[in-house]
This record gives sequence, structure tokens and C-alpha cells, in this order.
Amino acid sequence: MSTVTIKNVTKSFGSNVVLSEFNETFGDGEFVTLLGPSGCGKTTMLRIIAGFEKPTAGEVYIGDQLVSGGNTFVPPEKRGIGMVFQSYAVWPHMNVFENVAYPLQIQKQPKEKIWEAVGKVLETVHLSQYAERLPNQLSGGQQQRVALARALVAEPRLLLLDEPLSNLDAKLRESMRFEIKEIQQRTGITVVYVTHDQTEAMAMSDRIFLINRGVVQQCGTPQDIYNRPANQFVADFLGKVDFFKGEVRDGRIVFPVMGGQSLPYDGERTGKVEAAIRPENIFFAENGPLSGVMETVYYLGDVCDCRVRVGEALVRVITGGWQEESLRKGQPVRLQVRDFMVFPDDGLLEQMLTIQT
Ligand SMILES: Nc1ncnc2c1ncn2[C@@H]1O[C@H](COP(=O)(O)OP(=O)(O)OP(=O)(O)O)[C@@H](O)[C@H]1O
Ligand SMILES: [Mg+2]
Repeated sequence: MSTVTIKNVTKSFGSNVVLSEFNETFGDGEFVTLLGPSGCGKTTMLRIIAGFEKPTAGEVYIGDQLVSGGNTFVPPEKRGIGMVFQSYAVWPHMNVFENVAYPLQIQKQPKEKIWEAVGKVLETVHLSQYAERLPNQLSGGQQQRVALARALVAEPRLLLLDEPLSNLDAKLRESMRFEIKEIQQRTGITVVYVTHDQTEAMAMSDRIFLINRGVVQQCGTPQDIYNRPANQFVADFLGKVDFFKGEVRDGRIVFPVMGGQSLPYDGERTGKVEAAIRPENIFFAENGPLSGVMETVYYLGDVCDCRVRVGEALVRVITGGWQEESLRKGQPVRLQVRDFMVFPDDGLLEQMLTIQT
């Protein structure tokens, strides 16, 4: 069983607390992503699971085995995990084939099996024709794929990946995403994946843990986190969003910044609120409740990214690229909102960030 259980893990470097009271279980065969801004503690968490870092307090279990905590510390090589580091390390004196074969050679697997497994995994990462090359004859993205192949080749039960696709171009990154996910589903391994790329997290994960300043802000499926964010930080980090301060009055939210224009609201919040509108959830409609003037239109091919001046506010609207001909700067427009989120406007955003949700 390759569940990972993290109990009350805290990590400090000197007086700097980089993870506080991390309490989570990652399921057997689950694809879990730790997502968050640079410096939030993602790599530190992964290094603690791998055994390259000891928690300041708390315990880590892999399956039923305590691997870190109290007087127990199981070294990384005895934890049965595959790992790709953020600063992927490949051995410079070994060629691609030898690098990738290494974990199987340590296990003293028969030669034919090594040939077959390495051949297969090199194909997966699109490096078959580079088997003989030394790492210094490869690009950064190719070296990163060697590291990935080496982590995959022994089909470990638990795979820890720290930004494994960061050096690849957009097309290759997309196809590798799919390959990793396919391998994980086929082999049923548990993957803990670290990234600050939200699209990558959304595309691959069963569950996402969104972290800020060492504290889990929310965990859930991509749909949960995107559609039902626990707080403004989560709403803001995933996807695009504009926030507008308003007040609930007689079944509407009135926005002073929009010159007192309002949107219908039948939710439970009262008083001062903050409405969060995603630009794909707002559209041009003749009878829409908000009226404004088109300020800018960026044509991006598949979509048009527009800004509409509504009172003093600038409202972002993303609409289909095919509409471009009908969108003109300076024209009066009306906007309809398909869906929006409402948070309390208590000025407590900073405090909310330190509350575990
Ligand atoms: N060995 C160390 N000694 C002191 N501080 C450290 C050490 N390792 C990490 N930190 C600090 O811990 C915090 C979290 O670092 P970590 O590497 O986990 O961030 P991250 O979320 O992986 O960021 P990134 O997305 O930039 O890789 C940072 O403020 C970092 O400076
Ligand atoms: Mg990192």
C-alpha cells in the first residue's frame, strides 16, 4: 500500500516556519498535486516525504510504515520511491541508457529485462534516439526527461515529481502531462506532484492541495477548487478573476465602484461583500444588468480578451474569437453575469490565509 500519511508536520529553518501543521493523507493510487506560489513550501514537503529533510515536528507514514517521526528515520533509499527533483540531477559520466538503467541495475534485474524496460520508458519520454548520448550533449528539457525516465523505469509504488516538466516547450509539456497521467493510471502508482502551474495541476490531479505560506488553503478535486474556492486567495490563484467590493441590499449586490450598478443575488451573505467574477462567466447581452463602455479588445485567435469600463471599475470579459468583428473600442455595451462567487468583505484576507480550511 502506498498511501502517504502526514501527521501534524511542521518544518522550520531557524525561526522561519515554512510548513505549519500539515495534516493530510494521500490515497493509494491517487494523483495528488501540491500547488502554490514560489516559496510556499512545496519542495520542502516533497523532500520530507522522500526523506531528504527531517520534519521539525510530526510524523510521516508510507503505507503503514512510520518513516519519519520520533526517533524513527528511514533513509530515502529505503523508502521505495521514485523521484524527480526540481533541479533534476542526471549522472554526467553515464550516457542516457545507463542513467535510466541504473535503478534496475541496483535491483540486479536480468539484462534482457533492463533492455526492455529502458527501451520502453525511453520511448515514452521521446528519447529513444538519444540512448548513447552523454548528458552534456543534451538540452535542458532532454536531461529533464532522462530524470523522469529514471524515476519511472522501476515502476515504484510512490512517485514524487517536483516540477518535472518545467524546462519543456509548451507542446512537449502538454504531451508529457498526458504520458505521466497514462503511466500512473496504468500502473496504479501513487503520485505526489509539485507545480506552480495551475493548468498542469488541473489537467492531471485527482486532488489538488493549494498551499500558501506553508498552510494548506484548500484541498479538493480541480472542480471543487475552481468552482467552490474556500477564500479569495484560492479564487485568485486558480484561473482569472476580478474582485469587486459591494453591499447586499434588497436581493441585489450594489457596487459603489460601478457607480451604484448592481447584480441580483439570492445567497446567504449580508452586508459588505466581495464579488469575484471570472471573465469567462460574463458575456455581452443586450438586456444585461451592467452597462459600460468597451475600453480594450485583445484578439488572441481563439478568444477575445476585453476590458469594459463600468463606472470606475474595469471588468474583464473573455469571449469567443469569432466575435471580434462586432467588438469595437468605445462602443456602449451591456453585460450579463452567468455565475459569480461572493466572499465576506471583512478585510481579513491575510488572516484567512493562515486558517486551515
Ligand atoms: N535548507 C533551507 N534552509 C533555509 N531555508 C530554506 C531551506 N530550504 C527551503 N527554505 C525556505 O523555505 C521556504 C519554502 O521553500 P520551498 O523550496 O519548499 O518552496 P517551493 O514552494 O518549492 O517554491 P518554488 O516554487 O520556488 O520551487 C522558502 O522560503 C525557502 O527559502
Ligand atoms: Mg520548489
